[in-house]
Amino acid sequence: MSLGVRDIVRSYDSPVVRTYAAIRFQILRQRFLDEIGQYLPEQGRILDVGCGFGLFALYFAGQSAGRDVQGFDYNARRIAMATRSAERIGLANCRFTVADAAVAAIDQPFDAVYMLDILHHIPVPAVAPLISRITHSLAPGGRLIVKDVADRPVHKRWFTWALDKAMDYRTPVSYWCIDDMRRMLAGQGYVVHVHQMVDYLPYPHVIYVCTRNGGPA
Ligand SMILES: C[S@@+](CC[C@H](N)C(=O)[O-])C[C@H]1O[C@@H](n2cnc3c(N)ncnc32)[C@H](O)[C@@H]1O
Repeated sequence: MSLGVRDIVRSYDSPVVRTYAAIRFQILRQRFLDEIGQYLPEQGRILDVGCGFGLFALYFAGQSAGRDVQGFDYNARRIAMATRSAERIGLANCRFTVADAAVAAIDQPFDAVYMLDILHHIPVPAVAPLISRITHSLAPGGRLIVKDVADRPVHKRWFTWALDKAMDYRTPVSYWCIDDMRRMLAGQGYVVHVHQMVDYLPYPHVIYVCTRNGGPA
């Protein structure tokens, strides 16, 4: 089983969402999917926090039938579309629920958790408690992958801010400096490796690969 990006884009009913999905897969294209995907187990339970329309949960579930991928987002409309797409594609190993990451209980065990461009939308005081709840749900040696955008360079930060506000002008936005994010994650008991992904698009992409309890990096 190997699901392609095109199959996922085509699975949405709305042409607007299909266009968004195609653009999102241009921003987080194959290079990023491979970079993130290499840290996710082929077998096991994986959580996508702030999954939006479910593009990447569908993608990573579609890469291996041994993965059980769960995604949540506080936007009920996006979750309904993600659920509809999983049904249409026929993916039985991918499920979606509505929840607010700032307060959601994460009480099931997971082998890996990832968060793609959501942490900068979480109010800063709620971030460390959220990471703590994720950490408690992760198996020893399990990985947390955080893909976010940094606060530097300034022109890239403004570009990202304009796009975030264009998508939803009400959404809170706080871009973290890389050292603060690294310190916060390390303070929660992770070995943290930081990859800055230089891109032709003006995004200050950063991937934090966090391994719990010093398991293999
Ligand atoms: C930039 S989008 C990224 C979506 C998805 N991770 C992706 O990469 O396509 C940010 C997502 O975070 C969600 N979000 C923001 N704050 C949230 C919160 N407190 N709890 C759950 N989801 C949240 C938004 O609804 C949106 O779907």
